[in-house]
Order: sequence, then structure tokens, then C-alpha cells
Amino acid sequence: MRILVTGGAGFIGANLLRLLSNEHPEDHLTTIDALTYAGHRESVRDLEKSKKLRFVHADIRSREAVDPLVKESDLVIHLAAESHVDRSISDAMPFLETNVLGTGVLLEAARRHDLARFHLVSTDEVMGSLPLDRPEVKFDRRTPYDPRSPYAASKAAADHLARAYFHTYRLPVTISNCSNNFGPYHHPEKLIPLAITHLLRGKRVPIYGDGKNVRDWIYVEDHGRAVDLVARKGTPGETYLIGAECERSNNEVVHQILKILGKGGESLEYVPDRPGHDRRYAIDPSFLRDSLGWKPRYSFEESLRRTVEWYVQNRAWWEPLLPP
Ligand SMILES: NC(=O)c1ccc[n+]([C@@H]2O[C@H](COP(=O)([O-])OP(=O)(O)OC[C@H]3O[C@@H](n4cnc5c(N)ncnc54)[C@H](O)[C@@H]3O)[C@@H](O)[C@H]2O)c1
Repeated sequence: MRILVTGGAGFIGANLLRLLSNEHPEDHLTTIDALTYAGHRESVRDLEKSKKLRFVHADIRSREAVDPLVKESDLVIHLAAESHVDRSISDAMPFLETNVLGTGVLLEAARRHDLARFHLVSTDEVMGSLPLDRPEVKFDRRTPYDPRSPYAASKAAADHLARAYFHTYRLPVTISNCSNNFGPYHHPEKLIPLAITHLLRGKRVPIYGDGKNVRDWIYVEDHGRAVDLVARKGTPGETYLIGAECERSNNEVVHQILKILGKGGESLEYVPDRPGHDRRYAIDPSFLRDSLGWKPRYSFEESLRRTVEWYVQNRAWWEPLLPP
């Protein structure tokens, strides 16, 4: 099978390409990536060198670049996006351009060339925020969309567009909405790598607000396996929620990292909250589990330890990404 992965130099893309090349060595992998501040070709350089991956440095908003790549593919797995909520608050435009328009360019090429399968990787943030005091309430496939940041709104628009292409043109689209990922190759602007890299440099870790915001964490490799499964075996037109049922407050996550690195609470610094900071996300993954048999392989504790270990051993990857 010829697979086009968009955004393969990003965090989830790089981990997914690694997984696909290990699990399906017979497939032909291509990625298109514009190498924004969030894209790092080094993350997949070994795959390129061993001829397991073709890297196309181009923008998904470019019809000329996208068209021939989609035409030659059997499956497109679309991840390329502007992905950082804080950046979307300072400047929403790149989010609209890449996440909405870029998705539109891909869908249009897919429609024109009768692509066999299109999988859109999306986020649980399209569903808004859950209350902290009702732990029994989770996002499921019937939860209405209620995006609350420009990032989430742009991803919601992309989901709607993909669904419209299924209904209007019968394009075989699947969508997955996943909770917060962590693991290797994660940009140090996001909470877990930010905490680890601050601590490794002897700096205090900034935590928004009271640190009680809850996220439902998943190891990036577990997410990748779910995406691989849904993209190949999911029912066209369906939406799959991916989550590892692992809710932790930011305080809990950071304290666990402190413990792994042998540091104390004096290494934390509480800073003013960001606007519209969602309180809690939690995914009910039962549809994915019951329909396709997916379940996560790694516990939070084990995968967090592996992640910390990766950052300890790969300073050369993350140090150049830090602000001067
Ligand atoms: N990180 C998470 O926790 C999470 C959770 C759920 C869903 N997602 C979704 O998964 C996808 C990947 O997320 P990530 O964390 O790996 O993001 P990332 O920011 O690490 O990577 C995004 C990649 O897309 C590329 N890119 C950006 N704009 C582009 C453009 N116009 N043309 C081509 N390439 C472009 C970047 O260069 C980068 O390599 C996103 O769609 C995101 O919304 C992420």
C-alpha cells in the first residue's frame, strides 16, 4: 500500500512513521511537511537514510504539491497542523490557513483522484471542556462540538469538512479524536517535555493557574497503533475517539516527573492561567475498543519513565529548539 502521511516531521507524525515502517515494512511511505518551527526532519532522518521514507518538503496548502502525492496514494493519513493552543491565542490566522484550508486542499485532491481511504487525525479539544466535579462524564461519539480556542475551532472546522466530503462525495473518510499525547520527539513547548527539559536544565517548571486542569494522557505509540488500525479497518464515515483512560491533573503529571528526576516541589512555579483554559478532558474509548479491538499497551507510569529517559538521552534533539 502507498501511504501519504502529512506532517511527518512533527511529534505524532514522526512516531507514527516509525511505527508504520516497523509494523508494515511492505508499505511505501511518503510524507509531506512544510517544516514549520514544529517540524524536525532529524526526527525521521534515519527512515529517510534507510529508504523507508520519502520526504517531500512542501506545504499542504499548495495544490501543485499535494495533487500528485494524493494521486499516487492508496491511503492518506492527515496530521499536518498548527497544533499549539497558546500560539493560536496570539495569532489564529496560521491555524485557519493550515488546519482548515490545508485540509480542504487535501480533501479536494482526494475527491478528484478517487482516493481509496482518507484518515483525519483530530483532537478531543473540539468537544470543549468537562467539569472537574463530575468524573463520570466523558466525551463520547455523541458529544456535541464546542471548541473554545482558535486551535480547537480550526480542528473542528477540518472535521466538519472531512465529514461533508464523506456525505457529499462518498469519499471514504475516517476521523479520530484523541486526547493529549506524550512521548519522544515532542516539542519542548508542551507540558510534559517542557517540564522535563526545564528540570534537566535546573530551571523551575511554570504551571498555569492552580495546576488542577485534568488531561487524559496517552503514550504517542498507543495513539499511533490506534490511528493505523482506524485508517485501515475503520468504517468510512465513522468517528473514533482514542484515549487511554488515564486522567491526571497537571499537578500530578509534573510531580511524577519530579519524582523520576529526583527533584522536589521547589522546582515548580505557578503562573497566571491562560485565557479559556479548558478544565478537563476525558475520553470514552469504548467504541474503538469494541469495534476494532484496540487497547493501549503502556501504563502511564511506564511510558512517562520511557519519555523522561528519552529526553535525558537526546539533548542534541531538543536543545536547539529552546528559545535563546
Ligand atoms: N499532540 C497531541 O496531543 C494531539 C492530540 C490529538 C490530536 N492531535 C493532532 O495530531 C496532529 C499532529 O499533532 P502534533 O502534536 O504531532 O503536531 P506538531 O505541531 O508536532 O507537528 C505538526 C507538523 O505539521 C507540519 N505542518 C504545519 N503546517 C504545515 C503545512 N501548512 N504544510 C505541511 N506541513 C505542515 C509541521 O512542520 C509539523 O511537522 C495534529 O493534527 C493535531 O491536531 C495532536
